[in-house]
Amino acid sequence: MIEKINSLKETIAQLSASNEAEVEALRIKYLSKKGEISLLFNDFRNVPAEQKKEIGQALNILKNQATERINELREALSSSETIDDNLDLTRTPSPIKLGSRHPLSIVRNEIISIFSRLGFTVAEGPEIEDDWHVFSSLNFAEDHPARDMQDTFFISRNPDVLLRTHTSSVQSRVMEHTQPPIRIICPGRVYRNEAISARAHCFFHQVEALYVDKNVSFADLKQTLLYFAREMFGPETKIRLRPSYFPFTEPSAEMDISCNLCGGKGCSFCKHTGWVEILGCGMVDPNVLDACGIDSKIYSGFALGMGVERITNLKYQVKDLRMFSENDRRFLEQFQSAH
Ligand code: DAH
Repeated sequence: MIEKINSLKETIAQLSASNEAEVEALRIKYLSKKGEISLLFNDFRNVPAEQKKEIGQALNILKNQATERINELREALSSSETIDDNLDLTRTPSPIKLGSRHPLSIVRNEIISIFSRLGFTVAEGPEIEDDWHVFSSLNFAEDHPARDMQDTFFISRNPDVLLRTHTSSVQSRVMEHTQPPIRIICPGRVYRNEAISARAHCFFHQVEALYVDKNVSFADLKQTLLYFAREMFGPETKIRLRPSYFPFTEPSAEMDISCNLCGGKGCSFCKHTGWVEILGCGMVDPNVLDACGIDSKIYSGFALGMGVERITNLKYQVKDLRMFSENDRRFLEQFQSAH
């Protein structure tokens, strides 16, 4: 019996386990009611009286040793999860540093929110486009300079696959599968083959709006523009429309707002004119409606398109376009208090 006890002592000193389940299996093997050590206690009855003292002590030591060893194994496994003694859970937590929205996102969301109050809903389209949606459907002549490689990034030619140069392409995408009334606003990124400088970038952001229904008139366009300008730049803002040309609108106009820095008095920002240009607009050319499957004898519409960077510059006086894409936190953190 003494030999058995000694050999078990050795085995127990060597025990190891790699997970909780193994530790439990060892406990059952040695310490449960039918475990090896308990069975030895059962045999203790048969030990001759003169050996009882010695063997009894040895058995108790063995049992304690086994219990200790198994507890050690269990602790070793959970110690990786134990909490640092120095951790003070009652301490006030250090503040979590909040991020800030990108200024272009702030302004884009504001534009969307203003137009959604007029019943416009957001429509999106792909940045990789075909010639039809970016140019042909929008009444661009075959030899229009915008189709030139110098302005447009082509991915392949014949069939033409290109990066959209404006979000007006979303107009034709929506019109070709929706009948009026259509009242959409299309925010998105656009690409042009420009040398990068403080005033130009090869990608930027636009928001396009389109309204097509029966009897949509230039007066509707003007009222929408005035509402937008006042919501965006304040209730004192004035607007003026200058005749312009876009292939997809007729008549076309460019809209200026009274300079929001000097209130129209004239400053270096508005080049002392009191006005700054903010967007292009016009009545949708009947050719565009017809090309997209909308009967121009029944329906008319207006469209407008603006650069998000331009509006952001006016609101926040960002002087260099490149700052929008540099991800410099010193710049971005300044928009923390904006929404
Ligand atoms: N697509 C024009 C551009 O990229 C902007 C524009 C002008 C959009 C007039 C319009 C519009 O919808 O009516 O310069």
